[in-house]
Amino acid sequence: MKKITFKVNAVPKEVMVDEKAVLLDVLRKGLHFTGAKQSCDRKGQCGACTVIVNKKAVKSCITKMKDLEGADVITVEGLGTPENPHLIQEAFVLAGAIQCGFCTPGMIMAAKALLDENNNPSVEEIKKAFRRNLCRCTGYNMIINAVQLAGQFLRGETTPDQHRPAKSDPPIGFSHPRPSGYVKACGAAKYTDDFFVEGCLELAAVRSPHFNAKLISIDATDAEKMPGVVGVITAKDIKGNNNVGMLIKDEPIFSTDVLPVLGSPIAAVVALTREQAQAAAKAVKVEYEVLPRIATAAEALAEGAPQIQPDFPNMVYPVVQIKGDAEKALASSAHVVEARFSTPLVHQASLEPESALAYMDGEGEDAQLVVYGRSIWIHYHATLLSEAVGWPNVRYIEPYVGGQFGIKSDITTEGMAAVAALHFKQPVRYVASLEETMVMTTKRHPYDMTVKLGADENGKFTAFLMDFIVENGAHASTGPVILDRSIEMLSGAYDLPTVKANGKLVYTNDVWGGSARGAGPPQANFAVEGAVELMAAKLKMDPCELRIKNLLYPGGTTSTGETVSEWAVRGCFERVKPLYEKACQEAKAAKSNGIRRGVGIAGCSFGIGGGNDTSHMAVELEEDGGITIYGAVADPGEGNDCMLTQIGAHCMNIPMAKIRLVVRDTEGTPDAGIAASSRLTYMGGQALVKAIGMLKEAMKETGARTRSELEKAGKPARYMAGHILTHTGLDKTTGQGQAWASRLHGVQMAEVEVNTETGEVKVIKMINAFDAGTVINPLAFIGQIEGGADQGAGYALREHFVLGKTKDWITYKFPTMATSFPMENILIESPRPDGPVGATGMGEATMVATHPAIANAVFNAIGVMIKDLPITPDKVLTALGKKK
Ligand code: FES
Repeated sequence: MKKITFKVNAVPKEVMVDEKAVLLDVLRKGLHFTGAKQSCDRKGQCGACTVIVNKKAVKSCITKMKDLEGADVITVEGLGTPENPHLIQEAFVLAGAIQCGFCTPGMIMAAKALLDENNNPSVEEIKKAFRRNLCRCTGYNMIINAVQLAGQFLRGETTPDQHRPAKSDPPIGFSHPRPSGYVKACGAAKYTDDFFVEGCLELAAVRSPHFNAKLISIDATDAEKMPGVVGVITAKDIKGNNNVGMLIKDEPIFSTDVLPVLGSPIAAVVALTREQAQAAAKAVKVEYEVLPRIATAAEALAEGAPQIQPDFPNMVYPVVQIKGDAEKALASSAHVVEARFSTPLVHQASLEPESALAYMDGEGEDAQLVVYGRSIWIHYHATLLSEAVGWPNVRYIEPYVGGQFGIKSDITTEGMAAVAALHFKQPVRYVASLEETMVMTTKRHPYDMTVKLGADENGKFTAFLMDFIVENGAHASTGPVILDRSIEMLSGAYDLPTVKANGKLVYTNDVWGGSARGAGPPQANFAVEGAVELMAAKLKMDPCELRIKNLLYPGGTTSTGETVSEWAVRGCFERVKPLYEKACQEAKAAKSNGIRRGVGIAGCSFGIGGGNDTSHMAVELEEDGGITIYGAVADPGEGNDCMLTQIGAHCMNIPMAKIRLVVRDTEGTPDAGIAASSRLTYMGGQALVKAIGMLKEAMKETGARTRSELEKAGKPARYMAGHILTHTGLDKTTGQGQAWASRLHGVQMAEVEVNTETGEVKVIKMINAFDAGTVINPLAFIGQIEGGADQGAGYALREHFVLGKTKDWITYKFPTMATSFPMENILIESPRPDGPVGATGMGEATMVATHPAIANAVFNAIGVMIKDLPITPDKVLTALGKKK
């Protein structure tokens, strides 16, 4: 051990460290500066841990403490506080550069180091300085804007007040800073691994190293004797049903016999420190019978294939859609295109590792099991956990969480942490490594889609047929919902008079799919938009013209046979069409050696508010005339906090400062439903409007303006309302019926450059036109568009998860600031009569049209359509005949 004396934020510190100790761990665990975050298993890959040492930005996770004698360390906490933020922190909040906030402290410290050296950096200089700082949420443009705005503040050219909405600006339609913005910018937001809990034990899991195996025996004798070990738990220590499957009970907390996928959970070691728990987990002896892996749907569906889940068939869920007689219509069509499209298995890539903390509050049978975790549906997950671990009284608290994009629909680390807390009656924390996070979380399902599209002699679509097989992996998770959603939005933006679709969800011995931003339509729309593009080529028609000609219209029917009353996508196409034509001309004129430019376009009509969806919210009048909003509304980064605050202030006609939120705790909140499917603005927002309506009615009736006045008049201060949808969804045998209560629409256009020598595809610009009704907060809205477009570009060009090979942020390649591109956003507002303040939702839609727009642009550039995502350089070269 060695004594190191150094300064943190100008305060002298003295620590004893060993040879291997790194600055990040000393800051976080030793000194409780939790602003710097850990994501990449201490490999220096993500930048979330960036701090400044001796005036240089460093990755603190790979900075050895032994080298820091006398060093001057500045962390994000050393810049400013939420009450008195630094100008760079102001700039990140005011530029909308913060969503989940997990990357933010690292980004801000990288910005500080850059701006200290050069307070007027160019975009290229910013891209270079931030090349190793990853963000999955915001879209990198907003971070670039924030750094440039910070430069303007530092140079004295402008002030934060000039960029803040005025106090007199109304709540709706202005980019009021998010309620959590300054807390996140200043490193004060607590994520699960940031809480210091006295006496908290640490958990490490024992997981199967095989793709498919049978569990024969577990011997923890050696592990139990290791230093710091408190105990080892397995399935036999669980009193509940030991299952956290979302829809189908096929996902045990600890496996008992089948281990259908690499990483299947077997046991957990609980120890005084994480290192001790991890060391002991390696000493647990497990005997396996290794079985052959069923890696593909074809193998799983082959005659005589063994069943992957003992209680469920390999073909776990089918979907069917029949609208008219598509086969007959296709047979008499003047033109037919036929093609096979496929999309890859991808990881949602939230930066925060999976983590949970659990403890018993109270004694004996009345004790409450309290779980801190990363859930986006705390009421439902508390119920699932209660049944799984066999304890009736479970409270779920959601701290800040680092990214979501679907993976937080399911329970992961909370299961083992809850079992351990119940078993050992001590607080237990389980923070998984990134590698482990990648095997325990759901992925975006890979789709294999064979389609036929028919058109008449005028180019009007006549029929669409699609057969699709979805490799589900080893657990069902929300897979059936993903398939349902694929047919519920199958016709996308278009009028398809006849449709026939058959989909199959098939178990395999692979990591399993589940909710993923967009959830189903991103895959299906890739095939639809690809077929439309091929039809345009066949007809020698302009692709944009062909799309406009075939758009659905109010009074027309979707693939589900539902008659629609609005179809705002036409307005989006009208706005983008002249820009598309101009871009096509420019692309034709742009001649350069070895580079071909192309332009692609795709549409998106996205359903919100599914069958029987419900959401409840409550409000309580306070003494100052303000309100507290109660409702379990997760906000993993999309901006639900500002949605509630701005709607609340608008409906009450009071300043936003008088709106308080209680939204992350099952205690005291009604269930607003899952923070997924882009549904919370439409569903939770409408429930809030109704609850406020009830409160205002009581205030009007009594003339009360404050809580005490209302109560004195004999009325309660609290009012709860639900928004309950009564349509029941689709008929399972025909795929017909009302799928959605509301929709948003969009059109995206991509301009790309294809390097014909290397096969590299570079997106040079995107235009995103969206109509989601009233825009509540423009910056938050654009954040969803641009963040989704960056993700969509990753889906189109580089992302692919391979179980056993993808283990970190180098082997999983998602977009970096270096691959970011300029975007132009067109916001069209057609207020929705049934939406809260006229809004619907805008969380996922850019995951639906970005990748087909890019794929179509590549087609336009090279004349060959690549139908199998991602469009890697290899595939481009093969398409160009340069590679066999
Ligand atoms: Fe950057 Fe979420 S805001 S990772």
